[in-house]
Amino acid sequence: MSTQVATVAPSLIGNVYALLRQRQRSLVKRGKANPAMAMLALTAVLYFWLGRMRAKKGPPRGKAVPHLKTNLFMIDVAFTYVRARANGEELKFVQDLSKQGLTITTEFVGHCLILAFEPSSVQHILVKNFENYPKGPAFHRAFSPFMGTGIFNADGAAWKNQRALARPHFQVTEYKGAAHIETQINQVCGIVDKAIANGDVIDVQDLWSRYTIDTATGFLFGNCVNALDVPQQKFVSAFNYTQKVCGWKIRLCEYQNLFPAPSFPQKVKDMDEVLLPIVDQAIAKEMNRRVGAGGADDEEHKHDNLLQHFLNSVDENGKPFDRIYLRDMLMNFLLAGRDTSTNLLTFMFYNLGKNPDVMERVREEIFSVDAEEFDPDRWGPERVKMVRPFMFFPFHAGPRICLGQNFAYNQAMNTMTRMLQRYTWKVIDGFVPKPESDITMYSRNGMHIIFDEYKD
Ligand code: HEM
Repeated sequence: MSTQVATVAPSLIGNVYALLRQRQRSLVKRGKANPAMAMLALTAVLYFWLGRMRAKKGPPRGKAVPHLKTNLFMIDVAFTYVRARANGEELKFVQDLSKQGLTITTEFVGHCLILAFEPSSVQHILVKNFENYPKGPAFHRAFSPFMGTGIFNADGAAWKNQRALARPHFQVTEYKGAAHIETQINQVCGIVDKAIANGDVIDVQDLWSRYTIDTATGFLFGNCVNALDVPQQKFVSAFNYTQKVCGWKIRLCEYQNLFPAPSFPQKVKDMDEVLLPIVDQAIAKEMNRRVGAGGADDEEHKHDNLLQHFLNSVDENGKPFDRIYLRDMLMNFLLAGRDTSTNLLTFMFYNLGKNPDVMERVREEIFSVDAEEFDPDRWGPERVKMVRPFMFFPFHAGPRICLGQNFAYNQAMNTMTRMLQRYTWKVIDGFVPKPESDITMYSRNGMHIIFDEYKD
């Protein structure tokens, strides 16, 4: 059936268009129709018809799974989404969808979508049937120009190899990694002290994104990009831009080329201008060292940073990795490790700034927060027993669970502890964050905080 659709459809479209053109010519002659409008209308009808036919090729849907409510081939839903996003209500949009069912399906012009909110569905997708839910071609197409063949953008054997190679580095360095942040924390304190002295408000989202790009590049590349020193860098703005574009492209799936991104290649070039010299320098240094050491591995510095770790490893054919592979690897780990930690710190600052009583309690104990409702007691010994598996999975689950989880926890806890020991803060009056997501969820209008010194 699906093969028939694929082969019959083009000639069918050709015939219908030919008939329509004939009909239009006669209507136009009689002054009754606008040919452009008629062609547009036909294109729309064919587009949705083809979409429905192609959707039937997708995996069979369970009978019990409800369909997402739509009155206009998902156009109404897409419109509500765009409006919610413009109003900073993207999170509410998703929460409203979940009220239709905890697992719902829909198809959008040929693309089958499954929205899974039920913990058992999450477990089914991420753990039990992991092999059946790869990232897939649309994801690869959106991310390849930016992330190449790196871990985030890889499936199957390529993903398995990278993960197996990277894992030992994270195991060895997860505690050591926390030591890397000392220099950057001191820099952050310098910025906050200055703001206190001048009575300035700080956008902590911007501050933490510069902080985490510096800690991540230090930890991963052994070469910090110094965004805390020089805020508006080409590299950082290119990194932000490419993520935004990729975020839209994965939402548009097969129709991602409709998203205009003329500066995308230039932005990738801007990032490569920073990343490739780091890779080249590391390769040259490693080659020189090997000549001096008679070709031996560098046991002492093997785990200094992830790049060093990969330079001391070989691919499945026993060959060293080339510079493009190493560049892809760095880009992927940077993407994985920067915004995630930025957002965690940013929303923690918001919630503590809004709840001074809790801030006091946290000075005695560090805890995790839930984005939807600020209720740290849910992680107390009694209530934590009620949290079902796969209900809360910020670090993903199953074979693709976050590799940097312990690094991220260590970094967040160390950073928060240092900040709480030294400062107190509040969110500026009247400020309401507008949560929005590209690849991760952040606040579209920043996070405006006023600091003061903490006096015990
Ligand atoms: C609060 C901080 C963090 C959160 C919430 C988080 C969350 C996640 C999530 C949800 C995924 C799965 C993404 C997917 O496959 O679609 C993931 C994957 C990953 N994370 Fe994290 N992450 C954090 C920090 C970090 C850090 C600091 C690093 C490294 C320095 C890191 C490295 C990775 C890597 C390498 C993967 C890919 C794993 C794979 O595909 O096998 N993460 N993370």
